[in-house]
Amino acid sequence: MSDTPACTENLTTLSKHLAARGVEPGLASVLEALALGCKSIGHHVRRARIEDVVGAAGGQNVFGEIQEKLDVLSDEVLLQCLRDTPAAGVYASEEQEGPIVLRPASEGGRFAVLADPLDGSSNIDVAVSVGTIFSVLPNDRPDAESAEAVLQPGRNQVAAGYVVYGSSMVLVLATAAGVDMYTLDPVLGEFLLVKAGIEIPTEKKIYSINEAYTNDFDDGLKAYLEFAHGAGYGARYIGSMVADVHRTLLKGGVFIYPATAKAPQGKLRLMYEGNPMGFVIERAGGAASAGATPILETLPTHVHDRTQVILGSRIEVEHVTSRTHPA
Ligand code: AHG
Ligand code: MN
Ligand code: MN
Repeated sequence: MSDTPACTENLTTLSKHLAARGVEPGLASVLEALALGCKSIGHHVRRARIEDVVGAAGGQNVFGEIQEKLDVLSDEVLLQCLRDTPAAGVYASEEQEGPIVLRPASEGGRFAVLADPLDGSSNIDVAVSVGTIFSVLPNDRPDAESAEAVLQPGRNQVAAGYVVYGSSMVLVLATAAGVDMYTLDPVLGEFLLVKAGIEIPTEKKIYSINEAYTNDFDDGLKAYLEFAHGAGYGARYIGSMVADVHRTLLKGGVFIYPATAKAPQGKLRLMYEGNPMGFVIERAGGAASAGATPILETLPTHVHDRTQVILGSRIEVEHVTSRTHPA
């Protein structure tokens, strides 16, 4: 009997765990391509200012918002990774005017990927956590209609997740099997499984909203804030959705980006912010509301549709929607 100690190294890589979770190889290859892209993006984020990736790229996105250099670079990295992935059929993103057909379903392009390549752009130049958000839909369209595969309700997602480029590089991935979290080991260059089957706490007295817009909020939301202020809630707001949602997933609470007078449909984008984050939170046992209905029920009209977002612990979301959208 050898007396060498059993190996206690965590060597559960993303690929290994996806196989263990029974994720089919085509979808696994798309998720691994996205993880590779995020490793590259994270490398550039960590070198911001060393590399000339901070500041405006000189163009605007479809919203007329100034594109940061890192927005454009991140988008190009994801697109390159997916071009090299046979199961990736369509790509759409915040930085692209419209969907890009990589290969139709008849040639193996069975999945449509939508992404917010760099979320939290306004935080890049001050070294605050930013991230990448992605959503994967089945591409079951006839070849000539491949581009329409991106316009499906969030309920149809087969996987979704995000990477936070924070004090560590963390991948959170939701599939039919549940929500798993991985941390990048910078030496091995692998995302290693650190928690499987994440469940969001059922309640937590934390709310996350940009209260600078309070004068724009409707009476129901103002009533919620009055309730929270009187019930001993804590406030946390990082200004990068990916970081605010990641904290909400792990600690509980509610993240709110409501419709305002300035943004009557809300600011956040349905297809590559609301839907993927809603999928993750619901898979973890939480709720993700667009106000009157779940985000994932929303029928998209355009790849860049916006949505209200009220997501987090079920009880905490209920405290908001019972006031903003009373039954
Ligand atoms: P993006 O950088 O992809 O445009 O997203 C920014 C979003 C989101 O990350 C965050 O929750 C929200 O903008 C913050 O908006 P405010 O600055 O209006 O609070
Ligand atoms: Mn974003
Ligand atoms: Mn973005």
